[in-house]
Amino acid sequence: MCGIVGYIGKEDSKEILLRGLEKLEYRGYDSAGIAVANENGVHVFKEKGRIASLRESVDANVVAPVGIGHTRWATHGVPSKVNSHPHQSSSQRFTLVHNGVIENYDHIKRDYLQGVTFQSETDTEVVVQLIEKFVKEGQGVEEAFRGALKLLKGSYAIGLLDEQNPDIIFVAKNKSPLLVGLGEGFNVVASDAMAMIQVTNQYVELIDKEIVIVTRESVTIKNLEGTVVERAPYTAELDMSDIEKGTYPHYMLKEIDEQPLVIRKIISNYQNENGELTVDGDVRQAMVDTDRIYIIAAGTSYHAGLVGKQYIEKLAKIPVEVHISSEFSYNMPLLSEKPLFVFISQSGETADSRAVLVQVKEMGFKSLTITNVKGSTLSREADYTLLLHAGPEIAVASTKAYTAQISVLAILARDAARAKGIEVDFDLSKELGIVASVMETLCDDKEEMEQIAREYLATTRNCFFIGRGIDYYVGMEGALKLKEISYIQAEGFAGGELKHGTIALIEDGTPVISIATQEIVNLGIRGNVKEVVARGANPCIISMKGLEEADDRYVVPAVHELLTPLVSVIPVQLISYYAALHRECDVDKPRNLAKSVTVE
Ligand code: F6R
Repeated sequence: MCGIVGYIGKEDSKEILLRGLEKLEYRGYDSAGIAVANENGVHVFKEKGRIASLRESVDANVVAPVGIGHTRWATHGVPSKVNSHPHQSSSQRFTLVHNGVIENYDHIKRDYLQGVTFQSETDTEVVVQLIEKFVKEGQGVEEAFRGALKLLKGSYAIGLLDEQNPDIIFVAKNKSPLLVGLGEGFNVVASDAMAMIQVTNQYVELIDKEIVIVTRESVTIKNLEGTVVERAPYTAELDMSDIEKGTYPHYMLKEIDEQPLVIRKIISNYQNENGELTVDGDVRQAMVDTDRIYIIAAGTSYHAGLVGKQYIEKLAKIPVEVHISSEFSYNMPLLSEKPLFVFISQSGETADSRAVLVQVKEMGFKSLTITNVKGSTLSREADYTLLLHAGPEIAVASTKAYTAQISVLAILARDAARAKGIEVDFDLSKELGIVASVMETLCDDKEEMEQIAREYLATTRNCFFIGRGIDYYVGMEGALKLKEISYIQAEGFAGGELKHGTIALIEDGTPVISIATQEIVNLGIRGNVKEVVARGANPCIISMKGLEEADDRYVVPAVHELLTPLVSVIPVQLISYYAALHRECDVDKPRNLAKSVTVE
């Protein structure tokens, strides 16, 4: 979603800001802008659309050692040049970029800013106008900044320039991610370390409701009351090769191929000296103490949660409910006496999940976050964290995070079973090793996947994924992958449920991709395939070695029956990728989507 960068130093800031914004492109955006300050004032450049268009519009003759930049994903007001950031106050003295949502912007307009003419439809503009109003009333800039922030309800990460003092970037944060990066003779601001990793790997984390005064030589953190806060920097463990595509045409393909390596990394990160896969003692204790687990997640992470429920219930015998985070807050089920909340989130920043975390913390319940991003909001705010070790996931469509989430959930379930003295008759470490090898074989079979995509999905309007039990959840993930990147209308259904209504949609040639990896439901799913074939469907059965039948379109090598989602999802990811490619879709940055959804 929206991204922020800022630079204050000695070099011209334009290129640093533009490159930083390019690194944030993967998060999804619809417009972008930068504002740079020099002795002649503040110069704002912004454009609807891609950063490439912004680049073209930037005046190369303007040289300025200070600047802020922004990628916008529209929430209040359509994507347009005028609604894109940076926004300026009426006198143009103040220039501001903002991520998040100001929930009470209407009230602020009504109560404080009557008579001000607004240029944009955004919630953001009230902040910059409010600062100007307070300064005009006689307050110092820092005081006005703090005063304005105190009135805001909602989430914000802010960068502010004052034309009359271009040697400072004012920064603030509440619920939206923001970091300050430290350099020699320069400092930077970024909503994600990835944006500025090319200039520094030293970052200072900001806590909600702090402001920061950033100059070339110093970074001063204060709370909203003005008290200085000391905080040591940390080293961002990001490798440039992790965030570059290398020889791959798309990040999505690179990330699909990285999955065997991710599984191996997970094994080595969670293995103890006896070769057992274990989690920290306090996480284990929380699993032992709880009487019911509530998994909270969105999208692909929700689908991983559904698989995780099977693991935890089957191995550790703890009841689990899986909830969509945006539904949970206002539709909370009756909770058990000792609930444990497990948040699954690749980014660790999903606002819908965070809203639930805030709620359950207030209720005094324990929480665990399973995330790919160390230090992310959900990780910081939960009691415990388990990391995915998947490396940065840049393509909007999640692939390696999904398989990493499922693997970590398997480890969590296995560990809890051991702690509760429940016998588990297989060696998870060994079985995950087999999964990694099978994943490699599948990733090497791209030509076949491309052929399947061409055969079934080249021209279709819609597509169904069906499965039973754990295969149904993979079908849901397959449908999400396909629709988000190829724009083919796709639905994942429980095989047996089709005949209760949805089968009416099956026409001559409708592709039905069926996942069949579970012995217990093999006959059932094959019966469901017959039902759709009888109504004209074009069946594509993806089965598992040992359960295959003559007409199956693709057979995946066998893995442990609980771990099949880790391998059956790979053909589905690759078929979706090639379907999107055939349709000339923007695979890594599908329309309307953002990588990290930081607004509720
Ligand atoms: C789909 C996808 C999304 C995310 C969802 C949650 O490919 O990536 O559905 O899974 O937005 O995001 P996280 O996991 O960051 O909370």
